[in-house]
Amino acid sequence: MATRILTGYRPTGKLHLGHLHGNLMRMMELQEEAECFFFIADWHALTTDYQDPSRLRTFTEEMVLDWLAAGIDPDKATIYRQSDLPEVAEFQLYLSMITPLGWLERVPSFKEQQEQLRGREIATHGFLGYPVLQAADILIVRAEGVPVGEDQLPHLELTREIVRRFNHLYGETFAEPQSLLSTAPRIPGTDGRKMSKSYGNQISLSDPPEEIRRKVLSMITDPARRTRRDPGDPGKCSVFELHRLYTGDRVEEIAEKCRTAGWGCVECKEVLAGRISDSLRAFRERRKELEARPGTAWEVLESGLRKVRPIAGEVLGEVRRRMGMD
Ligand code: TRP
Ligand code: SF4
Repeated sequence: MATRILTGYRPTGKLHLGHLHGNLMRMMELQEEAECFFFIADWHALTTDYQDPSRLRTFTEEMVLDWLAAGIDPDKATIYRQSDLPEVAEFQLYLSMITPLGWLERVPSFKEQQEQLRGREIATHGFLGYPVLQAADILIVRAEGVPVGEDQLPHLELTREIVRRFNHLYGETFAEPQSLLSTAPRIPGTDGRKMSKSYGNQISLSDPPEEIRRKVLSMITDPARRTRRDPGDPGKCSVFELHRLYTGDRVEEIAEKCRTAGWGCVECKEVLAGRISDSLRAFRERRKELEARPGTAWEVLESGLRKVRPIAGEVLGEVRRRMGMD
């Protein structure tokens, strides 16, 4: 399969289990069989965090190290930082000329984020243009497949609309990229809601075992199980949702012990915490090795940039020609 794949992560802090199951595992498979571009979307982070960009550099470095420790291989995938590729910014400018305002105002994340991030004043030109920037990210390497979560589907649809409009105005130039929707189950955070940094309910890949244990022990369980003697319903417990992923060989037994009050929630959680910790041991070791070699992340980003740059230059050259800007 010679497909070209691209996906970007906003540098917002450490990667967590939600990222691992939702997207990272897929990226690891794809790097074996496709030509992959994985980039740090720091301009995208700036659209919401422009008032305090002080941690963007650290977050960028941490995210690259998390990728590498998880198994993303810079010899297989091209890893770069968006802001190192100014071709993307020029391309976004051209795309913004042909993108009607109404298309952007219609994107659901625009209104939702406005409400959620109240106080951060993101009624800005940059934030409204977020999906146009994303289209530029995707099209600058002519990506065919984009692995994303469900929340990103409207952005992908907008990219396809922009492609159709571009081709209509200037002649057939781009193919419509397809979204590769994650089939991973929803990963619950410690409060039972979807695991997400913005809820502060995440278990990070680099959390030490004690921290994992503390977080798992704090998890919300079946509310009907008030005492050790009350039977529980595993279907109503997010601890059990995680057991499905981490204790697959014992799910039946665990469900039974819950339903018959054969064990307490604390015991149940201890088992889960142990499994999650064990599954992340190799990650923690690789992460430590990488940290011990300062500069690693920046070297990876630099060599990725060298690989993506000629492609971006070629595509931008064609865009300029098509739009009479050569
Ligand atoms: N919007 C994506 C997110 O919030 C990040 C992103 C930016 C992206 N550009 C992209 C994802 C291009 C896929 C392709 O997660
Ligand atoms: Fe959840 Fe386990 Fe308690 Fe059942 S025993 S409610 S599965 S934590």
